Amino acid sequence: MAETKGILLAGGRGTRLYPMTSIVSKQLQPIYNKPMVYYPLTTLIVAGIREVLIISTPEDIPRFRQLLGDGSAWGMRLEYAVQSEPKGIAEALVIAAPFVGEARSMLMLGDNLIYGRLDFLRAAMAHTDESATVFAYQVSNPSEYGVVEFDTDFSVLSIEEKPKQPRSNWAVPGIYLYPPDAAARARALKPSPRGELEITDLNRAYLAEGRLRAQPMGRGIAWLDTGTPENLLSASSFVAAIEQRQGLLVGSPEEAAYRTGFLSTEGFRRAVEALPASNYRSILERVVHEEHG
Ligand code: DAU
Repeated sequence: MAETKGILLAGGRGTRLYPMTSIVSKQLQPIYNKPMVYYPLTTLIVAGIREVLIISTPEDIPRFRQLLGDGSAWGMRLEYAVQSEPKGIAEALVIAAPFVGEARSMLMLGDNLIYGRLDFLRAAMAHTDESATVFAYQVSNPSEYGVVEFDTDFSVLSIEEKPKQPRSNWAVPGIYLYPPDAAARARALKPSPRGELEITDLNRAYLAEGRLRAQPMGRGIAWLDTGTPENLLSASSFVAAIEQRQGLLVGSPEEAAYRTGFLSTEGFRRAVEALPASNYRSILERVVHEEHG
């Protein structure tokens, strides 16, 4: 399988969450008991991605660095880059070009929360051709998202950004898999009327070349929105319900790194021992003990 590097885009103004976002970025706000960015980072880890570039605003990058470090405690490599203005999701690929090099990239938005068996990510990564992959998730309100229409062989027929009359109920979540030429393609895009390099325009460029595939995520997956205070509350309730029922954590990079094999048993134990006394640590300590008596 070709090497895949992760890009976590966690910038933007977060104005819909004002005043909470007036001094701290959206992706650092809590979802139940963890900063939001933990969830998409954990998703990338479960996908087997060991090297991740985190992109955010000049003000917030030091806070992300303080929170997540260089990744070594989790057997990973984390790097950081600034997006000086929110000039579009596709700009993340341009910013990440030196980090990604000749690898493929999985770009994930830092405000997307995906829960469930992530086999669909590995299925997409198993394709070795030069196509880009968008994922597809059935929703009741497709007009609020990118919307994809695809054929029985999963080749994409159309993709539109927030269409008034959607051609399908398949929304495009904020996670994308790109071949190595994505940065060059993103650089060639013209800014949209709102002045952004649109991710949907990048996907259309692949579509125009017959190089865009759709990978449905399946109904067993939860893809949650975090855009408004109501959505934040629902996402927190969702995580709380599952954690309280199972006594396990949703969105723990430490545990994901251990289960994915980035951390040895000893490395996991050390990572947990380094945490301050907290409920988060107690739950992970149980995982250490259950696995090793
Ligand atoms: O969440 C999935 C949706 O994300 C997709 O269905 C849409 O096709 C895609 O365009 C995007 O739609 P949004 O309306 O959610 O995009 P928004 O401009 O709100 O940006 C999404 C996140 O990315 C947001 O948390 C801030 C961050 N961002 C955005 C831009 C434009 C950046 O960090 N930098 C940026 O320049």
